[in-house]
Amino acid sequence: MNRRTLLKGGAAFLGMSALGVPPYQAMAELGNFGGSQEFLIPLPIPPLLESRPAGDDGRLFPFTVEAGTRSFIPGYTTPTLGYSGSYLGPTIRVRNGEQVGFNISNNLDQQTSVHWHGLHVPAEWDGGPHQEIAAGGIWQPRFTIKQPAATLWYHPHALGLTGEHAYRGLAGLFYIEDDVSDGLNIPKTYGVDDIPLVLQDRRFFEDGRFAYAQSRMDVIHGVIGNYLLVNGALWPNLQVPRGLVRLRLVNGSNSSVYRISFSDKRFFHQIATDGGFQERPVRLDSVFLTAGERSEILVDFGQDEVAATSMLLVDQFAGNSFEAMQFTVTPTRGDHRIVPDRLADIDWLAESSAVKTRRFTMETMSGGMGMMRRGRQLTINGRNMDMGHVNERVKLGTTEIWEFVNRSTMMMRLPHSMHLHDVQFQILDRNGRKPHPAEQGRKDTVHLNGGDAVRVIARFEDYTGIYMYHCHFLEHEDNGMMGQFEVVA
Ligand code: C2O
Ligand code: CU
Ligand code: CU
Repeated sequence: MNRRTLLKGGAAFLGMSALGVPPYQAMAELGNFGGSQEFLIPLPIPPLLESRPAGDDGRLFPFTVEAGTRSFIPGYTTPTLGYSGSYLGPTIRVRNGEQVGFNISNNLDQQTSVHWHGLHVPAEWDGGPHQEIAAGGIWQPRFTIKQPAATLWYHPHALGLTGEHAYRGLAGLFYIEDDVSDGLNIPKTYGVDDIPLVLQDRRFFEDGRFAYAQSRMDVIHGVIGNYLLVNGALWPNLQVPRGLVRLRLVNGSNSSVYRISFSDKRFFHQIATDGGFQERPVRLDSVFLTAGERSEILVDFGQDEVAATSMLLVDQFAGNSFEAMQFTVTPTRGDHRIVPDRLADIDWLAESSAVKTRRFTMETMSGGMGMMRRGRQLTINGRNMDMGHVNERVKLGTTEIWEFVNRSTMMMRLPHSMHLHDVQFQILDRNGRKPHPAEQGRKDTVHLNGGDAVRVIARFEDYTGIYMYHCHFLEHEDNGMMGQFEVVA
């Protein structure tokens, strides 16, 4: 049954890429290898990044960007990239109000950058395409953490290279803790009952390399994979205590949209969106995450028998269904049994406080294959990303409404994932209706189906300078679906 599901997905995937006549077609892709899903590999937990005291700079975290290799599929070796390691990176954990610094050495033979996704930082330390780190270079951002507890992440953002660098393994988690997270009676022991889960689908060439390529179909639909990695492992198992377990889910894929649930259909509670805790837990039996989005959930294994298992299911909208990983319940009693009914206060922004509404129309032109030039067909308000052009200017200290419209043609009902740097926004409405409770909270990334119009509200405060907004499908971003806004005094 497991194998059949995979094969079905694989066939759909291969059929799709054949249409695109990819340039790498000569290189056969690895279909679905005959391995079994016995969930034997323990789930890897990224180490916490070590820091040292640095006087006025607070705590200093050094790390590197490097190339390596990893075996994801038994018998195959894959060249990879990683932060201080061969794939993904250590988890950075900081506190609200804390002064922190990073010394980041780029040991690649190519430029890259390190962007703090979801973090409110001065523009010069944002790590976008204006802050590339040259091959062999070092970047030393210094800033103060100024936002509540949240599960954020960091990843590369060099112009035109984001998708490839991320695909090869550059991504890590960035946790913020504060008095609210300290005070809540919820699981918070890293790697024991508070578990990061970075979900990424991947495809491979027959020689084991990642099949990252940007054919026209890859650009339009994103590079969609037929294997699903959790924290860089294929089909891992996690031993969990009998009690509440907190999962910090990150859709770390390049361009996939996931629906995440459990094989036994169990309910759970979502407690945090992209930018931190919600007001109250939201009871769900599946959580929907577009590329770049996060969700924290509390799953109750307290009623399970010892040695019971449950699988995490990931349905990828492009067609594959994955039994991504397994949870095995141990005899250990968990420290937490009850889901709190209040979590945090959210400072809701009133629509009437907005001084301006801007509209961003995301468009994908369809047309004959011959006339397609890479990049031209993915636009926001009719334009491609241009490093020399600031698209919007926002006054410091003001609140604005940004409306994202996914205008799709009959041919191209593509979804998009809209992301803003600098701010956490709140969703006012989706197609005129209040957002689903799971989307009510602090957000930095929002999904748009073909035809959707979503209004968000945000306050642009503390820092001036240039930030990005873009589709978080990285193949869309790299091919022009990005713009710049400048916060001006
Ligand atoms: Cu997560 Cu501009 O990116
Ligand atoms: Cu970002
Ligand atoms: Cu997009």
